[in-house]
Amino acid sequence: MLESELNQLKEETLKEVSQIGTIDSLRQFEHKYLSRSGLIRQFIQNLSTVEPSERPKIGRLINQIKTVISEAYEEQLKTLRRTLPAQEEQTFFDTTMPGKKPARGHYHPVYQVFFQICDIFKRLGFDIAYGPEIETPYYNFEALNVPSDHPSRDAFDTFYLADTNHSQLLRSHTSPVQIRTMQRLKPPLRIIAPGKVFRPDTASASRFPMFHQVEGLMVDTNVSFSHLKGVLDIFCKEMFGKETKTRFRPSFFPFTEPSAEVDISCVICHGQGRLNSGDTCSVCRGDGWLEILGSGMVHPEVFRYVKYNHEKYTGFAFGMGVERISMLKYGINDIRLFTENHLMFLEQF
Ligand code: PHE
Repeated sequence: MLESELNQLKEETLKEVSQIGTIDSLRQFEHKYLSRSGLIRQFIQNLSTVEPSERPKIGRLINQIKTVISEAYEEQLKTLRRTLPAQEEQTFFDTTMPGKKPARGHYHPVYQVFFQICDIFKRLGFDIAYGPEIETPYYNFEALNVPSDHPSRDAFDTFYLADTNHSQLLRSHTSPVQIRTMQRLKPPLRIIAPGKVFRPDTASASRFPMFHQVEGLMVDTNVSFSHLKGVLDIFCKEMFGKETKTRFRPSFFPFTEPSAEVDISCVICHGQGRLNSGDTCSVCRGDGWLEILGSGMVHPEVFRYVKYNHEKYTGFAFGMGVERISMLKYGINDIRLFTENHLMFLEQF
């Protein structure tokens, strides 16, 4: 009795579903038969009124019918979706829903600092110059007055290109752009040169075999060490804040004389060396100063290489590491983070 009723239901619904022509009425169909309050569910609930010996058989039959109808419903839904004109679906389009924003990227924290550095020097009248990343020993060392026995020329300290018999290398600093620029231009000139540099260092929290530098060069008559100090002092204050102090420490580079290393007062403890808690500052290690660049007056020997009259002209040069500046500015404690491509890291800047 119940069995034939169920089979009849099956035949009828299968016929019904195959004739449905809109998604709306298909949804109504689903509600009427397959939903929690639908007809099939009622059959299941009424199972208790069936004679116990019959229950398993009827139960199986109901499940079977439910599967068959569900499949027919899904099938019809697919057919309608495929064949109905798009407007049928568009009746469900909610125009008040916010649109999907396309994901927008931003510059890498190293390049953000690159641009900030370039902006500051552009305002001071410096032009931007570029040079190749693959250099010759002449530009990377010779013309910069680096003697042939200097340790930085060693195969352990510079990447030489294979099969070039040490005649090509990855530049180890941006200073070769000084030479290329002076060969190209006559004084007066003021340039900065941003770019990648390479050194065979083992990656650690503070070293990486590829990093970025910005080189600076100014040549004119009567350029003095005071100009160098003035320009770099302005740069540091613009970059790290007005209250930043600078300190020039005597140093040595083969291509500058005299040479100076430039420190800024620590960005964390403001030169105190200690935090308010009394703990030693971990960024400057209690020193109060942070080294940020190398600089000096262009060595007369370098002018000789580019055929500038060193009696008439003087100049200053400097070079700074961009990762280091970015790390100090943003409080990043490991240089390797820059190249790991973790969005969790990059999205913070
Ligand atoms: N080229 C030097 C370095 O990489 C930095 C520097 C540039 C020093 C210009 C003096 C003048 O360490």
